Amino acid sequence: MGKVIGLKCATCGKIYPPDSGLFTCPDCGPYKGTLEVLYDYEELRKTLNRKNWINNDLPWHYRYINLLPFNDISLIPPLQVGTTPLIENKRLNSKYGFNILLKDDTRNSTLSYKDRASSIALIKALEQNAPGIIVASTGNAASSMAGFGASSGMPVYVLVPETIPEGKLLQLILYNAKVVKVKSNYDKCFDLSMEIAEKTGLYLRSTAVNPYLSEGKKTSAFEIAEQTNYNLPDYVFVPVGDGCIIESVFKGFKELFMLNITEKIPKIIGVQAEGADPLTRAFQGKSSEITFMDKPTTIADSINVGVPRDGIKALKAVYESNGMFISVKDSEIIDAIKELAKETGIFVEPAAAAAFAGFKKARKEGKILPKSSVVILLTGHGLKDPASIKNNQQVDTPVLPPDIEKILKLLSL
Ligand SMILES: Cc1ncc(COP(=O)(O)O)c(C=O)c1O
Ligand SMILES: [Zn+2]
Repeated sequence: MGKVIGLKCATCGKIYPPDSGLFTCPDCGPYKGTLEVLYDYEELRKTLNRKNWINNDLPWHYRYINLLPFNDISLIPPLQVGTTPLIENKRLNSKYGFNILLKDDTRNSTLSYKDRASSIALIKALEQNAPGIIVASTGNAASSMAGFGASSGMPVYVLVPETIPEGKLLQLILYNAKVVKVKSNYDKCFDLSMEIAEKTGLYLRSTAVNPYLSEGKKTSAFEIAEQTNYNLPDYVFVPVGDGCIIESVFKGFKELFMLNITEKIPKIIGVQAEGADPLTRAFQGKSSEITFMDKPTTIADSINVGVPRDGIKALKAVYESNGMFISVKDSEIIDAIKELAKETGIFVEPAAAAAFAGFKKARKEGKILPKSSVVILLTGHGLKDPASIKNNQQVDTPVLPPDIEKILKLLSL
């Protein structure tokens, strides 16, 4: 198991041995008992510093191997992951009066942030000689896992809601995953995946109940630290469904801070869609008690989650960093997709656009300090779900004969 020294329950704090095979704390159950991967931070503090904490002999986010839960570099999958650009667009800055950095994770191999987690899940499955991997997903986690499985010949089994967007389904099929569309929602797929993993010995890659996924998802925080030359932003905006990305990003910043590699932890802002926002509601009630939503509804399929599996850690990330949760309307999400595409050239899917919409709303409501620095995590590519924008946008383009006069007239040139 190498450098991982324990798995700590998010609620009762009990620490289990890393080879216990547990996914969640038996005392606290699957929602409250999510586990956190612990390293020997005392020991790491003695040896790691800003100059040596990265291993530049390794590719992509595996450069952070000192803070990742594996040692055998021969298991690294041959598919790019992370190492995505942090983009400053000066026009956007002057429009909003903030120093905005866009973390463009649409550039991952399977076009979403989930590749960060899938890459580590694959390594853990290979370590255990698992016969295959099972994943329940709204779409991205599955298509990502399928891509990484394909890169290494690992069979991937997938349960998705039947409403999965076409682009994500096409990825699954072409990556050769064994896909079942379930006549139900994501939350039901999730429960089924846990049962199947238990019955079959398949490695479980469903979000949150597998603590190692966070280890992959935290690496964007490491990249942001490097890319800002350790001048961390004041705020990081993260779209939230299950809450795994947000808690992982926080963990990444916290680890660097604990190791004295950075000097602060940014305020973490979670953004949910209004129709699927149990964590915003808990936050508004200043509580850590989450009331699940039976029928979550938003066009942002990736965050259409009523039962957030990593809710406890997600709320902790926000409370401990002095951040907040906010919710945005579907119409604000659509506007954010259009604005980002038009003003920055980055075309994102609705969930990713929610983070930008959240920034706009927080700014408008005076919830963030003017002129401060902001990172917005753009977690998934727009071409994964073109229908969501097509239904809300005039996409008819006129067809003309090959007549230059007519073309110039149409283009007002
Ligand atoms: C593009 C995108 N953004 C955000 C999220 C939300 O991540 P989490 O469920 O970990 O909160 C997801 C999860 O599927 C996603 O695919
Ligand atoms: Zn517990």
